[in-house]
Amino acid sequence: MPIQWFPGHMNLTKKAISERIKETDVVIELLDARLPGSSANPLLHQLTGHKPKLKILNKQDLADPARTEAWLDHYNAQPDTRAIPLDASETAPAQRLIQACRALAPSRGGMAKPLRVMICGIPNVGKSTLINTLTGKKATKTGDEAGITKMEQRIALAQDFYLFDTPGMLWPKIIVEKSGYNLAASGAVGRNAYDEEEVALELINYLRQHYAPLLEARFKLSDTSALHDEELLTEIGRKRGAVLGGGRINLQKAGELVLTDFRSSIMGRITLETVDEFQAWWAAGMAIEAEKAAKKNKRKKGTREAQAEIDADETDAEPDGE
Ligand code: G4P
Repeated sequence: MPIQWFPGHMNLTKKAISERIKETDVVIELLDARLPGSSANPLLHQLTGHKPKLKILNKQDLADPARTEAWLDHYNAQPDTRAIPLDASETAPAQRLIQACRALAPSRGGMAKPLRVMICGIPNVGKSTLINTLTGKKATKTGDEAGITKMEQRIALAQDFYLFDTPGMLWPKIIVEKSGYNLAASGAVGRNAYDEEEVALELINYLRQHYAPLLEARFKLSDTSALHDEELLTEIGRKRGAVLGGGRINLQKAGELVLTDFRSSIMGRITLETVDEFQAWWAAGMAIEAEKAAKKNKRKKGTREAQAEIDADETDAEPDGE
């Protein structure tokens, strides 16, 4: 079953972004470097139009470095866009961010025309951590509770450089089914919205194809290619002691263990999608959406035509003069 989440305060956040965008020079989009396509909010482009974008591939310490490079090249090739990698170990990232934003909006700067930057990102992408680093505050959760007042939080990073925070936001409709799984694996989706076993099976399926040596080393497995995904999860559960009465394996628990290991990068640095893969998933997702829309239209048209026929029949049947 595809992942389906409750988008929370999305409408308030959308409204706040739409209002703020008029007075914004650059939009920073914080992405998760382990899923640089799936963590990009498809609504953001609609909301922010052609404003210059700085894409930050955050948590790069957890991601596959070669894939991060490929994603940076991909985003840097887009118009009015710059992309940089980042992680929380960088203790003073402000200058790098400021420079990247200034390059995107060279006509802004100075007290009369301060550079106004809006920062957006999905929940758990590390936005609070970054803002706390930038402001020199101790880590406090500032993101997910989409209080509208947070939207007005203005952080001055230089005399002529203002950063406006926005609450972490997911979008209402998953176009790419794989993205739902990758977002759940990364921890961006609330736990009630998915089943750990199912997400772990998807993750295992990807890891065995792309990172088999890491999977085998972490769980001391000799040859993952000989097993189905579920057999593999069962084997992991057995090895890690997720055993129920009667020797049955607790697959839910085994799934949780796999997800926890992935999130902590204990298996190694992993990225769950390449540029080509994500583009293929996106194209397939859009094709399904188009098909659904066409069917819906056909149904609507069919209903209208059927109603017209009923109306015509009733008119014919009406006795004259009544
Ligand atoms: P958010 O505001 O976007 O929702 O995210 P937040 O900063 O709260 O960060 C979510 C989690 O990601 C936190 O871990 C945080 O420590 C971790 N994190 C943030 N940036 C990085 C990074 O660059 N690299 C790595 N490896 N982790 C990062 P947590 O387990 O939820 O909390 P805690 O461990 O900080 O207690």
